[in-house]
Amino acid sequence: MSAATVSPMPVAGIPAARLPELLQAMPKAELHMHIEGSLEPELIFALAQRNGVALSYPSVEDLRKAYAFTDLQSFLDIYYAGASVLLKEDDFHDMAWAYLLKAQEDNIRHTELFFDPQTHTDRGVPFEVVIKGLSRACARAKTELGVSASLIMCFLRHLSEESAFETLQASLPYREHFIGVGLDSGERGNPPEKFARVFAKCRELGLHLVAHAGEEGPAAYIVDALDVLHAERIDHGVRCVEDPALVERLAKQGTALTVCPLSNIKLCVFDKMDAHNLGHLLEQGLKVTINSDDPAYFGGYLNQNFLETFEALDLDAQAAYTLARNSFEASFVSEADKARWIAELDDTFRRFAQ
Ligand code: HPA
Ligand code: ZN
Repeated sequence: MSAATVSPMPVAGIPAARLPELLQAMPKAELHMHIEGSLEPELIFALAQRNGVALSYPSVEDLRKAYAFTDLQSFLDIYYAGASVLLKEDDFHDMAWAYLLKAQEDNIRHTELFFDPQTHTDRGVPFEVVIKGLSRACARAKTELGVSASLIMCFLRHLSEESAFETLQASLPYREHFIGVGLDSGERGNPPEKFARVFAKCRELGLHLVAHAGEEGPAAYIVDALDVLHAERIDHGVRCVEDPALVERLAKQGTALTVCPLSNIKLCVFDKMDAHNLGHLLEQGLKVTINSDDPAYFGGYLNQNFLETFEALDLDAQAAYTLARNSFEASFVSEADKARWIAELDDTFRRFAQ
């Protein structure tokens, strides 16, 4: 590992047997979580009943059984169908609140939530309904749960540039409710360049910029997300290894990758967890973070991602420290908040070393 990117742990000698407990207890940030992907089958059924929406699955169990994906698109088809039960401001609030309760359980101090307005506005749900419900849950989380939560608005890349511009326009009256923009949905055939002008406008507006790249798409999409969109973080990015010059550049620049291990297994980006390249990415000195992506669909929330990754890749306490610290350093919070949470992280590791 390169010395520049491995943050020295405040203490050594935490035994492997204590890792599961440490992974649970350590404070952390989550930077790649689609709020519509936190919609559990039980909540989908409850909201469908509340709103009189017909579902094509007879039961919660039947819906859950359909969560067998072969690639990104096979997941997106079910994910967009699941979101069809969201109609009212309270629905968006309740969905986000359910996730934020899980975030608190996982000792997440700060989370940056993606939301997909076009999934809702295309069904006739006004932008205002979406953002007000989500924002209300985020504000409540701060006061009632001690969890800091911000919103990042994603453009669906399978839709047109024009639709993205309309979405940006609709969002402007609510500018103070979100901190940045992202790019998600089907990656293949929808390169970052398609949204160059939209991202240029967002940059002018002072929004933070992130983009999914190098999940199913090639390493060249990561290069374009950096050079054309000026993305500050890369969501997924695991295919960067196909371009050694890019790996070197990402390491040198300290660009964070928001890696989602359980998602990558469920969507067949890697065959199984012990074939995941996260350990290799860390060894290359990349600023890697662990995230849950769409936890209701991929078999676990953030701590489950940590547990399964550490078990399969045989990672140690130093890796846990680096990943948690990276999550705060790569977040879009103030330097004061970063310092406060990193100090708390250090205290946790000291406690475990005793
Ligand atoms: N990739 C692209 N789009 C998405 C994802 C993802 O993993 N999850 C939700 N939308
Ligand atoms: Zn994602």
